[in-house]
Amino acid sequence: MFEYLVPRAPDAIMALMEACKADTNPNKIDLGVGVYKNDAGETTVMKAVKEAEKRWWAEEQTKSYVSTVGRADFRDAMCAMMFGEDNSVITEGRLASAQAGGGSGALRLGAEVIKSAAPDATVWVSTPTWANHTPLISSAGLKMENYPYYNRETLGVDFEDMIDHLRSKAKAGDVVLLHGCCHNPTGADLSHEQWDYMAEFLVERNLLPYVDLAYFGLGRGMEDDVYGLRKILATCPEALVAASCSKNFGLYRERVGLIAVVTKDQETAKIAQSQLGSIQRKIISMPPDHGAALVAKILNDSELRAMWIEELDAMRNRMLDLRSRLSNELAVQGSEVMANAVKAQNGMFSTLPVSKEQAEALRADYSVYMTNSGRINIAGANIRNIPLLAKAILDVL
Ligand code: LMR
Repeated sequence: MFEYLVPRAPDAIMALMEACKADTNPNKIDLGVGVYKNDAGETTVMKAVKEAEKRWWAEEQTKSYVSTVGRADFRDAMCAMMFGEDNSVITEGRLASAQAGGGSGALRLGAEVIKSAAPDATVWVSTPTWANHTPLISSAGLKMENYPYYNRETLGVDFEDMIDHLRSKAKAGDVVLLHGCCHNPTGADLSHEQWDYMAEFLVERNLLPYVDLAYFGLGRGMEDDVYGLRKILATCPEALVAASCSKNFGLYRERVGLIAVVTKDQETAKIAQSQLGSIQRKIISMPPDHGAALVAKILNDSELRAMWIEELDAMRNRMLDLRSRLSNELAVQGSEVMANAVKAQNGMFSTLPVSKEQAEALRADYSVYMTNSGRINIAGANIRNIPLLAKAILDVL
């Protein structure tokens, strides 16, 4: 039967990662896949994670199953951190959650919940959005559409267009996927005022917010990075939240994520909880435990938590410093618009006005690796190669 299989194109981000690995130029600049890198270009295990692993190794007594929705200590600590521990969603029990196989697993579980509750709902995603959003969510059998978001000329958010589009095209009961912070791939986030407006707009139009929080802690700081999410929870009666611990805990391959379903009341939350367990059982039965056990350990221990926050702050500050240096170089070398955008954007990514051909030329002629859409992972640069990087970008443009 397998002779009937047709080949599939490799995932663009994964293919870029392989191409960069194969490049023998010692001065190559890897701005591809969204993983944090230090000044030496390495993605090391965080110290807090290593310490938690040591302690966990000594303590762990069994590898027996936990549950289809994973560990309660992990889920509770994550929800308390993201929502605030005295958030009414938690104190009133209007919350169901499941540990998931990374942020992707969380997004998929959320999509399956939508499919069970409202199979005819359309899920609206930004143009552009993370390349895997559409495959992940549409595989649950949901319809998907795009709303305008990033203006490739101003390199900022087209908020008015976004709202006008959703107002005229989205129907009551549809779902709007929003990047909680550090928009992937553009780094262009909603301002506080825009989040305030968005939350009211969603309620008024009866649209369900689905917040993807994959990079929190890596934008402007933990509190600021959850501003939009908390505003949504304070305003909208229902929401879905998909979170990832890949980036902020550096647990990429361990696959640690969380899906939260925020409901109108406790009774509905209980039903949603049963749905999450049953959906996960049908797909992977149970989520992997190790990474989530480490996150629970870190968040529930004041010493480990402080260690983690310090490292996270250092990662964020390094990226802010690189942004500022790249911005200065771009300004000096003549591109004010790019310079301002790179400085104003948040997190790991910015999307530059680079065409597919220009991205290919950057790879071939300068060993600079970015996606064909012009997305750069700022953590892949360092203070030594920033001037060269700015020059290479401006040369191809
Ligand atoms: C990215 O956007 O590069 C990361 O989220 C990694 C991935 O799985 O695509």
